[in-house]
Amino acid sequence: MSKIAVLGYGVVGSGTVELFYKNKERIEGKAGKKLNIKYILDIRDFPFSPYADKFVKDINVIINDDEVEIVAEVMGGLHPAYEFVRSCLEKGKSVVTSNKELVAAKGYELLTVAKENNCNFYFEASVGGGIPIIRPLHQCLAANEISEIAGILNGTTNFILTKMIEDQMSFEDALAMAQSLGYAEKDPTADVEGHDACRKICILASLAFGRHVYPDKVHTEGISSVTLEDVEYAENWGGVVKLIGSAKKLSDGKILPMVRPAFIEKSSQLSAIDDVFNGIMVKGDAIDKVLFYGRGAGKMPTASAVVADIIDAAKANGTSSSQTWEDGRDVDFIEDFKQDETSMYVRINCTNRDKALEEINESFGDVKYLARKNQDKNELAFVTPSMKECEIDKRLSDLCEKGIKVIGKIRVFDF
Ligand code: HSE
Repeated sequence: MSKIAVLGYGVVGSGTVELFYKNKERIEGKAGKKLNIKYILDIRDFPFSPYADKFVKDINVIINDDEVEIVAEVMGGLHPAYEFVRSCLEKGKSVVTSNKELVAAKGYELLTVAKENNCNFYFEASVGGGIPIIRPLHQCLAANEISEIAGILNGTTNFILTKMIEDQMSFEDALAMAQSLGYAEKDPTADVEGHDACRKICILASLAFGRHVYPDKVHTEGISSVTLEDVEYAENWGGVVKLIGSAKKLSDGKILPMVRPAFIEKSSQLSAIDDVFNGIMVKGDAIDKVLFYGRGAGKMPTASAVVADIIDAAKANGTSSSQTWEDGRDVDFIEDFKQDETSMYVRINCTNRDKALEEINESFGDVKYLARKNQDKNELAFVTPSMKECEIDKRLSDLCEKGIKVIGKIRVFDF
């Protein structure tokens, strides 16, 4: 019999407990042994819960109970989750987590502690909710050299953009709707400013490329400045605007990770991933491209991944089998995103349209002009040819000096 402790009884924690007891027999069959939840840690009281006798408020009860072999950390946030998880691993207890902030910030360290203590640190639920992506990357695609991963990694922003694209809702109205439906938090910063997607691409990049990619090294832009005009121009161009987290390996071995809103052509499979769904594409030398698609958040989809990790931790039987990667803090292996080649959608204001057209053509050569309904005569929008981003910046800043004002800019992403 393996005893389990669940840290946190919020949405994912309660889903984990519910799913565990709903499918207990099946789960034990898969694990090959009896399992039970001995403790649930939460600072709140749940006197009417069917699991009321399992609640504790002191983490030391769990840390010091040798019967507890597996801990599911589903509290979220960095502190005190990090201290709790580290202490459990140091005691030889395997930990499974849905906490992307924790894995993105401390993954290398916690994987090392797990290895040193002959236990496991699993985090399938930290990226893509119920979509299997961590284990496929680590196991099923292990024979490939992965060259690029790109995806829609945040359900809340994808819902907002979908509402802007399909119902012409403003960003503010779509965000309010996402909040009223419980997708977005009261403070939506982590989602709309791209931090959540950044943590997820850090985890995927670390796993795919073998070195910890820290969030503060990743250029991250959210969707709060995307307008309905941008969405209309994207439609006219033949695509949609999506928040893309991506990481690619360059020929010199460096990694280029980035999170930003991007124009995606309608022919790309990523363009069809709508609402709260996530989609992650992985490119490998043997597999070519593979797409993982599904519910990237929510109580039961995320619980599905947490409980699967519990089963694997139970099956590991005191051996260490979790993936590892090298540290990346002191190594300069992240490429400057300004060196990346990209096309750019640019929206400008000018006072003399004919002169502005002349200047833009002279500066960028072959641009594709875009149109939208009710376009002001002093507004122009175009997509540049592909070139290094620092070169685009330089040309735009020269245009600025000639009285052309850039009012919007979104990279084109092709995968
Ligand atoms: N806030 C996240 C999202 C939850 O919207 O995708 C899942 O990580």
